Formats: sequence, C-alpha cells, structure tokens
Amino acid sequence: MPRPLNDTFLRACLRQPTAYTPLWLMRQAGRYLPEYNAARARAGSFMGLATSPDFATEVTLQPLERYALDAAILFSDILTVPDAMGLGLSFAAGEGPRFARPLRDEAAVAALRVPDLDRLNYVFEAVRSIRKALGGRVPLIGFAGSPWTLACYMVEGAGSDDYRIVKSMLYARPDLMHRILDINAKAVAAYLNAQIDAGAQAVMLFDSWGGVLADGAFQRFSLEYTRRVVAALEREHDGERVPSIVFTKGGAPWLEQIAACGADVVGLDWSVDLGAARRRVDDRVALQGNLDPAVLFAPPEVVAAEARAVLDSFGRAQRDDGGCGGHVFNLGHGINQHTPPEHVTALVEAVHAHSRALRAAD
Ligand code: CP3
Repeated sequence: MPRPLNDTFLRACLRQPTAYTPLWLMRQAGRYLPEYNAARARAGSFMGLATSPDFATEVTLQPLERYALDAAILFSDILTVPDAMGLGLSFAAGEGPRFARPLRDEAAVAALRVPDLDRLNYVFEAVRSIRKALGGRVPLIGFAGSPWTLACYMVEGAGSDDYRIVKSMLYARPDLMHRILDINAKAVAAYLNAQIDAGAQAVMLFDSWGGVLADGAFQRFSLEYTRRVVAALEREHDGERVPSIVFTKGGAPWLEQIAACGADVVGLDWSVDLGAARRRVDDRVALQGNLDPAVLFAPPEVVAAEARAVLDSFGRAQRDDGGCGGHVFNLGHGINQHTPPEHVTALVEAVHAHSRALRAAD
C-alpha cells in the first residue's frame, strides 16, 4: 500500500522536517458533530456504529470532510478488548460504559484469558474499509487502551471517581492485579499488531487513568506494562515505519520515564508547558498535544491565539545541531461533546497558518 499523499503526521511522529505542524483531535469523530449523532441514531447505539465496518468508516471520515485534519483515527473504543474477553460491555445512553461481569474475585481473575482475535474481526474489517475509503488522503491511526486503563474498567465495572475497587485490589492483592495486567498486555499487543496488519499506519495507547496512580505504583502497574506492549509492536509494515504514541493523562510528573518506554511519540495533557516538556525529553521523542479542550468553548479569535501559544511554546522544530524535534498538535484530552463545530475550523486554520509562518521565518 502506498504512502499517504499527506504524510505530514507520520513525518512529525518520526521527527522528520515538515512544512507545517500536523494536527488531529482525540475523539474527533464524536457527539459534537451533528452528522455523528445522526449516524448513531441510524445505527441504534454506539456499539452499533463500532461493530459495523460501514458505519465505522462513515463516522471516521466525517471530521475529515469538515476540517483539513492530518490524520484519521479508527472509530472504535478501548473497551472492545475486555468485551472480547467476555466481560459483557454495554453503553447505556448518557451513562458511559458498563461491564456485566467485572473482575471482582480470584476465580474471575483466574478465568481471564487473552481473547481469540477473531472476536475482534469487526475492528480489523473497519481498518481495511477505512483505508480503502481514505484512498491515501491522510494516514490512519489505530489504537488500544493501556493494560492499566483497561484494568480500571474491568475491575470497577464502569467509570469511577475514586478507583476504590481497582486500587484496593492493587494494594491488597498485587498478584491478582499483575495477572490481569500481564494478560491485558499480551492481548493489547496482539490487537494492535492485527490493526497494523489490517492497515493502521500508526498506533496509539491511551493510558487515560495512569495519572491516578501514586509515584512508584505508576511505574510498576502502568508504565511497565505499557513498555511490554510497545516492545511487542511491529515497527514496520509494507516497508514503512509504524510510529507508536503513548498518552498518559496526568503523566507529566513521569515524563522522562514515559519518554524512555520505547514509543516514538509521547502525548501530553494541558497541565504542562509544551516547551518545558520538550526540554525535559530533549527531542528523544516527538510530542503530541496539548491544548486544553475547554479553550474550544471560547470565541474563534481566542481559540486561534491559544493555539498559536502552544506552537510558540514548542518553538522551532529544527535544532541548532542539525537534528529535528517533532510536534503533532492535538488537544490535551478528547474533544468535549458541547464544542461548537465552527470553533474547530478556527483551530485547524490557526495551527496550519501559524506553523507555516514560523517555518518561513526560520
Ligand atoms: O478519537 C476518536 O475519534 C476515535 C474513537 C474513540 C472513542 N473512544 C469513541 C467513543 C477513542 C480513541 C476512544 C478511546 C476511549 N474510550 C478512551 C481513551 C481516551 C480518553 O478519552 O481518555 C476511554 C477511557 C474510553 C472509554 C469510553 N468510551 C468512555 C468513558 C465512554 C463514555 C464517555 C463519553 O465520552 O461518552 C465511551 C464512549 C465513546 N467512545 C463515545 C465515542 C465517540 C461516545 C459514545 C456515544 O456516542 O454515546
């Protein structure tokens, strides 16, 4: 399969020079778009969208029809993997995800297995279908949840405010927690490699709940298993490098350690200054982020100014020593469902225009 016509995103991930800073948005296909809500109504539910390759293709492409984004992301969810393990996923309207059979005791943990990847064929079919529909316009990002973030949902059975149940298991029965994480790491690595085989051109691990862990626990229960997944990933497919991205929400205290996990790109939330983060990792990895998604509630001129501030903070990609840094512009977390779609237009235009101007001034 040929390289995408617009390979700016892949080049930035690999710290190669680009004409401008590429951008995409976490949750770019979602409820802030009226056309997404219409497709979801036709499909009947979120899982109706995600399990149909046709619907998944349609909604993956929706944000690209509106905005000049530099990457597409597979429309799916991180919780497809525990669902395939038999935990019984459902999304009640307006309530978020729920598992019918959470892992609450030793017997449930002992029975847990790496799932047969055939149960996730609908995801790989969607990847193939999206690649075909994209026709090389932009690269396609595949993704999965980190072993720890998946374990949070698998043990809690739903989202949580305090992570009481999963943290109780972590401290009281670390042996059980390590067994879950070991199985999750094997499942996630196999799942991402199957996405790569189906045509995903970059892969991202979402460690959305890594930041709730204590220092020490983060390294043992989250980062160690992220590292194992990254080490097991296919680095190349069809002769092209497949960059990997690791995003730990709340991970700024451990940035140097995360940057050493083997991934090409580290995602950042909005709690850190991007330029300071860049100095901490000294361009050993590319950085992705990190505009506060709430900025998008402000008027378009404020959105543009805040986007320029993020780009200015990163600074020139070109280094004085001849090397190159890499920046993929993104939000610091998923786009909020109440975001006015026209504000995203202002964001995309500002990122492209200002980053081009910065390079021209070099
Ligand atoms: O980024 C994209 O456009 C690709 C699609 C994508 C979804 N979920 C679709 C989705 C991605 C990359 C995810 C990842 C995901 N899912 C994460 C990690 C990223 C993050 O936000 O931290 C997590 C923690 C989940 C679990 C999940 N899925 C939750 C907590 C919820 C409900 C809360 C919410 O935001 O609605 C979902 C549902 C979900 N996944 C929706 C979408 C578009 C909304 C469902 C709907 O249409 O009702």
